[in-house]
Amino acid sequence: MSNADLEKILDTSDDWIVTRTGMRERRYAAAGEASSDLSTQAARHALGRAGLSPDDIDCYIVATVTPDFQFPATACIVAANLGAVGKPAFDIEIACSGFIYGLPVAASLVRAGVFARVMIIGVETLSSIANMEDRGTCILFGDGAGATIVERTEPERDSFLACDLGADGRTPELLYVHGGGSRHPMTPQLLAQKKDKLEMDGREIYRYAVNKMVETSKHVLAAAGYTTADVDWIIPHQANLRIIEAAAKRLDVPREKIVINIERYGNTSSATIPIALSETIERGDLHDGDLIVFTGFGGGLSWGAIAWRWSG
Ligand code: ACO
Repeated sequence: MSNADLEKILDTSDDWIVTRTGMRERRYAAAGEASSDLSTQAARHALGRAGLSPDDIDCYIVATVTPDFQFPATACIVAANLGAVGKPAFDIEIACSGFIYGLPVAASLVRAGVFARVMIIGVETLSSIANMEDRGTCILFGDGAGATIVERTEPERDSFLACDLGADGRTPELLYVHGGGSRHPMTPQLLAQKKDKLEMDGREIYRYAVNKMVETSKHVLAAAGYTTADVDWIIPHQANLRIIEAAAKRLDVPREKIVINIERYGNTSSATIPIALSETIERGDLHDGDLIVFTGFGGGLSWGAIAWRWSG
């Protein structure tokens, strides 16, 4: 879905979208395609790259706000799709921070010796909850999935250096879906008001996103014993190019160290970071020992950063 496609259905323009967000295209799942379908494809890709079979993974985790169903967990369906019936599987729901929370969960399970290998998938089909009549929100979101495998290694090669996570649930209405949960079960009236769709206070989220990405990145680097000068790559949540650029400027990290692909995918929530990571690997940009900071924020409100030593 290009900006030109959006121009056909909304009072918007390519110029407005590019200038305000940096986005040019976003991908939408095909009709009938759900988050578990995108996840299964991403999982197969990751397994192929790692030379592993579904049975080699001891636990499947899916981070998403657009599960196939309110329950059961999408991860259970993904594991079944892969033929890994019987493997433990569960979802994490913390909006755009899903991968930022999920990766430390996966790494901690491995470190604690509970599992030898855990797959963590970030996936969204945000097109299913985008209000296509609200030009202030729908232009931002796309669908996508990225899968990562975390496995046990020798302590001296441990990649997980530190994480910094946070949440502030005082104002959920800044970024949420109002209806359909136990607070406001769905009614015909709520449906008519499109209360099954995403709503957001864009300006407030923008302000908080920049502040939090800067603060949490500094915290995680300090916890790991580094400064921004030591960082090889920042892989941020792709919500808005201006948010990423403002945060990078305040962190004093040069543009060439920031991974940005927002122009092609828009905001795919918990999938943005694993997709950006996957593309960075494909380009051959990551080298053994590189220091990566993953950082993101999202509904909750929630935020976080991870310091990660790449070991390919
Ligand atoms: N096309 C044309 N005009 C538009 C559009 C559009 N798509 N959307 C809004 N406008 C208009 C508004 O109506 C307004 O017009 P007015 O001045 O006549 O009232 C004007 O543009 C300015 O609107 P703002 O909302 O103030 O625009 P802003 O510069 O704040 O940009 C944006 C909006 C892009 C949404 C920005 O606030 C933003 O990126 N916020 C953060 C969003 C974000 O990061 N969300 C991620 C959430 S993560 C997760 O968990 C899903």
